[in-house]
Amino acid sequence: MQFEVWAKGLATLSVDCIVLGVFEDGELAEEAQSIDSASSGYLKKLLARGDFSGRTGETLLLTELPGIEASRALLTGLGSRKSFGRRSWRRSLGTAITAISKTRIGSIAVAIDRPPAKELDDYYFGRAIAEIVGSTLYRVNDLKTAKKPKTAPLQKVLAGPVRKGGVEAAERGLEHGDAVAAAVRLQRDLANLPANVCTPIYLADQARALAKQHASLRVQVLDEAAIKKEKMGCLLAVSQGSDEPPRFVVLEHRPRGEKTDSPPVVLVGKGVTFDTGGISLKDPPGMGEMKFDMSGAAAVMACLSLAARLRLPMRVIGLIGAVENMPSSRAVKPGDIATSAAGLTVEILNTDAEGRLVLCDALHYSRRFEPDVVVDIATLTGACVVALGHHHSGAMGNDDDLVHDLVEAGVRAADRAWHMPLTDEYGDQLKSNFADFANVGGREGGAITAAAFLSKFTKGLKWAHLDVAGTAYQGGAQKGSTGRPTPLLADFLIRRAGL
Ligand code: BES
Ligand code: MN
Ligand code: ZN
Repeated sequence: MQFEVWAKGLATLSVDCIVLGVFEDGELAEEAQSIDSASSGYLKKLLARGDFSGRTGETLLLTELPGIEASRALLTGLGSRKSFGRRSWRRSLGTAITAISKTRIGSIAVAIDRPPAKELDDYYFGRAIAEIVGSTLYRVNDLKTAKKPKTAPLQKVLAGPVRKGGVEAAERGLEHGDAVAAAVRLQRDLANLPANVCTPIYLADQARALAKQHASLRVQVLDEAAIKKEKMGCLLAVSQGSDEPPRFVVLEHRPRGEKTDSPPVVLVGKGVTFDTGGISLKDPPGMGEMKFDMSGAAAVMACLSLAARLRLPMRVIGLIGAVENMPSSRAVKPGDIATSAAGLTVEILNTDAEGRLVLCDALHYSRRFEPDVVVDIATLTGACVVALGHHHSGAMGNDDDLVHDLVEAGVRAADRAWHMPLTDEYGDQLKSNFADFANVGGREGGAITAAAFLSKFTKGLKWAHLDVAGTAYQGGAQKGSTGRPTPLLADFLIRRAGL
């Protein structure tokens, strides 16, 4: 996709379609007014006839509008002017792109009026356009045997209106947004794959392939023997019931010319390629979507590809614990005790609380890099979905500034997270009579006790945890990976790199 900024002369742009906004009260937004004048009142007449309501979600394609160079115009509803803001702008743009993807339109000029600058500056305007176009045009890489409809022919997007002096920022936003969209696509493609394809070995191979594509990336894959050498007893306890061998992936982005080891940002991803629950078997409705249980790992790969593509001037290291959680005669049983790489013992009372077992060993591994900060990403608990639904990811950690930075990144990226309390009391719920801790802490505050478990392994690190069980994928008719929280993490990394 080619992205550019259009600065002036909307009526004279030769594109296949210009996209205009109309408010619900039938009022033309500013850019639409200029087109209305150029077309001697065509749009106002149309609205006076009541042919377009301006509600969000509504679009109308007009052909051969007199007085303008473009061969078509698409109206998109902006909703009421009073409540118009960043959210309605994003929605209106998304609906417009959806409508366009069903046509033969190959080039567009986006000319929807914008929310106030304090809600969306020129840089984030560019970012949003490229990200929304990217995610709206995304098609699941499915295995349907019927002929596929052709992909949308849209190839060129001109973005505007841009404020005076804002062209450069908007262009940078478009470039970054295009890269974020590619990262999101990578995550979605990986997470959407069925678990019989996307095994731990497959994930490791994809990490290798990624490292081949980018000069700044290096990869190291630990096989089962190497994982045993690292004494990752908790990760291995999860994996032992499966015939699919585990893999532990280390993927590093090192900026060109960097010789000394500056403290890296370490991203740790839960890569449970399928979570049956193990001996504590899930029931069928809960199990159906568990191929998405490697979404955290996919997000980590996505972020490393982004770091490489944008040549971020800082080290970023991705760690992925990739395992399959299965019941079998060799599987770990409730009550079994495993010894983590950190040396702490864990009584595994529920084999379905496996994500934290994988993560605790991966988090411990991060110590050797003397990281600046560590952020783990995991579809960790159903309790987080109960607490926050599908709108916010859960954000927790032992460093309020870090969690705050992540939450703020989520606001800017429209990929929000909510800071949940992680105080000492929650850790008390993990008491065990037989080991240092139990891996479960009861129903109450389940998202937080899971984080409290992880916090036992991150003492002395600046660490945050994103529980994306409710946000990384959708169920229902739109079933599939959402690519979250890659937009949030991308924003966090880009800011931190000072780009
Ligand atoms: N992968 C699940 C969490 C999950 C649940 C993700 C629903 C997405 C949607 C995780 O491994 C799990 O099973 N967690 C248990 C923990 C419990 C046994 C303490 C859960 O949430 O039920
Ligand atoms: Mn589980
Ligand atoms: Zn799981």
